[in-house]
Amino acid sequence: MERLLIKGGKKLAGSVRISGAKNAAVAILPAVLLTDEICVIENLPYIDDVIVLSEILTELGAKVKLDSNGRMTIDPSNVKGYTANYEMVSRMRASYYLLGVLLGRFGRANVALPGGCEIGERPIDQHIKGFEALGANIDIENCIIHARADELVGSEIYLDIVSVGATINIMLAAVKANGTTTIVNAAKEPHIVDVANFLNTMGANVKGAGTDTIKIVGVQKLKGCEYTIIPDQIEAGTFMVAAAATGGDVTVEGVIPKHLEAITAKLLETGAKVIEGDEDVRVIGCTDPRGVNIKTLPYPGFPTDLQQPMTVFLCITNGTSIITESVWEGRYRHVAELTKMGAEIKVDGRTAIIEGVDELIGAKVSATDLRAGAALIIAGLVAEGVTEIENIYHIDRGYENIERKLIRLGADIERVEDRSLVV
Ligand code: UD1
Repeated sequence: MERLLIKGGKKLAGSVRISGAKNAAVAILPAVLLTDEICVIENLPYIDDVIVLSEILTELGAKVKLDSNGRMTIDPSNVKGYTANYEMVSRMRASYYLLGVLLGRFGRANVALPGGCEIGERPIDQHIKGFEALGANIDIENCIIHARADELVGSEIYLDIVSVGATINIMLAAVKANGTTTIVNAAKEPHIVDVANFLNTMGANVKGAGTDTIKIVGVQKLKGCEYTIIPDQIEAGTFMVAAAATGGDVTVEGVIPKHLEAITAKLLETGAKVIEGDEDVRVIGCTDPRGVNIKTLPYPGFPTDLQQPMTVFLCITNGTSIITESVWEGRYRHVAELTKMGAEIKVDGRTAIIEGVDELIGAKVSATDLRAGAALIIAGLVAEGVTEIENIYHIDRGYENIERKLIRLGADIERVEDRSLVV
């Protein structure tokens, strides 16, 4: 029902504080159910995915209190159920972590197939392969996954594909299994390390997170703890691209610069200046940016989640840029929207060829998924005239207060009710 209206042409300037990592939060919140003691999670982003998860945990029997400063206190001692609410689960992709968690805690889980962004085929066969290797039986009936194990037993699991979700989900199921689980060809994203650190703070024994081999020695009991979530790599990268694309000068604060190396390297190639501090990164755009080629890859490669924002910047750089999307096959749905704004992009399978144009022109566009929505915001910031973005609920799933943060950097952006739909 809401839309964003952006009047383009303002150079972003100032500093912006990055929120906690969405992709860590959506795994750590369900993971709390692995104990029956109270956990306090700090630095949670105030986004729709976190709100939905707090509702799911409450429905399962946990007592949940979310403060306005991103601190959530969860008492899971009364959680008895292992069936997650169908409607709530289908509202977000990462609800698949409930499978690993409930299986790990109860040896049973009934969870609907995940919802979330439409960015190509999103199979979960590697998650299921992992659970089965630990001894679970899995059935899928009417879009609901039923997992069941009398006992979970550690095993060696080789992932056929480097999958963030499967790596985390197998860790979640294995922390209380009997014996040792080894995940080979594991994903290495920063939030995988964060989830492992959280589990270890609860008393788990997880080693090797951040490398391609993770070893999990099962423990009998996990305890409550306090834990602070890492800053969001993708939100930080989004603001870095927005700074460079608008020719601005923005300091992105409260980040781990190492997590941003891939985006930093590409922005430097375009001619932007990037100055790394201990916990901040300053991006200064240049007047005549160059096109660059990008291939998305699992971490530490260029993150697929920043491909769409970066595509927008490349639309207004000099020369030709080639993007190869090697993680998600259907991640070019934003291209049709950018074309409405005057972008010149040809998509052929997983490749997009971008010819830089002098300017984008404001238009009425629609966010097709979370990161496409962020990309369209950047398009609106650099475009001549007014851009109107519909379906911004996608953006609210993953970015906290995005327009308020942008307004503080000098953007002309406003959230309005869609009056045409108000009766
Ligand atoms: C996570 C991120 C998402 C990001 C993606 C890749 C969360 C909540 N979401 O998604 O923002 O874009 O990592 O960095 O953390 N695959 C299979 N079988 C599986 C699992 C995955 O074939 O069982 C394939 C997928 O189709 C995709 C690739 O593996 O092509 C990577 O997917 P994966 O890393 O699992 O992504 P998600 O965990 O869903």
